[in-house]
Amino acid sequence: MTDAQQTDSSTTDQHSGSTGCCCGAGHGLSRRRALGLGAAGLTAPVLAACGSSEEAATDTEPTATSGEALGAAADVPVGSGVIYTDAEVVVTQPTEGEYKGFSAVCTHQGCIVSQISADGIVCTCHNSVFDVATGEVVSGPAPSPLGSVEVTVDGDEVTVA
Ligand code: FES
Repeated sequence: MTDAQQTDSSTTDQHSGSTGCCCGAGHGLSRRRALGLGAAGLTAPVLAACGSSEEAATDTEPTATSGEALGAAADVPVGSGVIYTDAEVVVTQPTEGEYKGFSAVCTHQGCIVSQISADGIVCTCHNSVFDVATGEVVSGPAPSPLGSVEVTVDGDEVTVA
């Protein structure tokens, strides 16, 4: 389980710092500072990297392919889940024995979700939270639910259907 992330930590507010960028990419420029530099013609690459906060992700399909083994079913906690970052799939177990699969690609701007907290599946780029049972948006700027990914449990292995 080298690429999987299983966490119950609380969400992190990446907007708390006044010098962070809107996209959470950590390039250390606030939008105001970037716009100030823009007057000098210095910011086109930075702004292009940020994009608009109003744009929804257009490609939210995970990289996982049908038949791909994700990991052990026993590693998926009841009431929570595991994020398989390489496959871009989240597998949850809302109730014992019921496994759900979702794309890990956030529908807001395409970050990979990175935490599963008591509130749900969390994208820390702009703090969207998705329901572990349905993938529906619980809070945050994401415009639509996480995409559904069919998964099966064969023996003790969770596999993309
Ligand atoms: S990309 Fe913005 S909340 Fe996920």
